[in-house]
Amino acid sequence: MKILVLLGGSSAEREVSLSSGTRVAAALRERGHQVTEADPHPDPFAVLSAAKAADVTWLALHGGAGEDGTIQALLDLAGIRYTGSGVLGSALAMDKDLSKRLFRAAGVPTAEWRMLDAATQVRWREPAYAAETFAALGPKVVVKPSKQGSTVGLSIIEDPSALPAAIALAFEHDDEVMLEAFVPGRELTVGVLGGTALPVGEIIPKHDIYDYECKYTPGMAEELFPAPIPDAVRDEVQRLALQAYAALKLRGCARVDFRYDPSGRLFCLEANTLPGMTGTSLVPQAAQAAGIGFPELCERIALEAVR
Ligand code: DAL
Ligand code: MG
Repeated sequence: MKILVLLGGSSAEREVSLSSGTRVAAALRERGHQVTEADPHPDPFAVLSAAKAADVTWLALHGGAGEDGTIQALLDLAGIRYTGSGVLGSALAMDKDLSKRLFRAAGVPTAEWRMLDAATQVRWREPAYAAETFAALGPKVVVKPSKQGSTVGLSIIEDPSALPAAIALAFEHDDEVMLEAFVPGRELTVGVLGGTALPVGEIIPKHDIYDYECKYTPGMAEELFPAPIPDAVRDEVQRLALQAYAALKLRGCARVDFRYDPSGRLFCLEANTLPGMTGTSLVPQAAQAAGIGFPELCERIALEAVR
């Protein structure tokens, strides 16, 4: 096939995308495909002619316009086939608030949360707001931009006095901020490939949370595929991942992330419609555990797009 790999972009995850895209392009070439690479930043229209000349456009973009449905809309308008979810699914998954509402409606458990937007009249800098938030969501509160990836702009707060600074940081990355009850316990992840759940993974980061450094620095997290969890939990988290995938109307490859608390409850964090394909990323490891090597994974994702 003739495949155009889009990588780079302008989001905070640009470096991650360059790493994903370079590996994906090399893997597709290894499978004998005719591969070109292009960066849609700063002029996304400039990639359209190369995309039209290809059989499929392989999206190795992460975050921002590459993952939120914007590029997908441009490609749809131009009649170009691309990997991953469409406009609606991409937009829904990128918005963590709407995602959680749809998870709830679909019976997928997710932690309690509240939202702030840039125009809010809520006095979130005042101690009373922190006290009320901790009463509702504590003892630990996760503060994150609603539409970001790779834990950029995310804080976990134990001390209410640290809340305003965490909210201000999150607002630097988005005009909507999510405050979420922190779920203690373990981190599980489920890749979905063509509507089928891959083996479940467990992530044990060297930091308290699986942050940017742990995600992309070799040796800063242990990734266990398959996760050492009871079969019944494996089955349940895979079932919930597929339910979350359906609730957001996703297609192609995606990854759904969960917390697994000490009492055995599962909570869905979010779905990623263009999951990382870097050397430390999770979906490639999940696929490997299912006997699917990286070049074959990249090819299968391309084939999903032209089915
Ligand atoms: N947002 C990063 C790339 C991921 O989900 O893997
Ligand atoms: Mg994410």
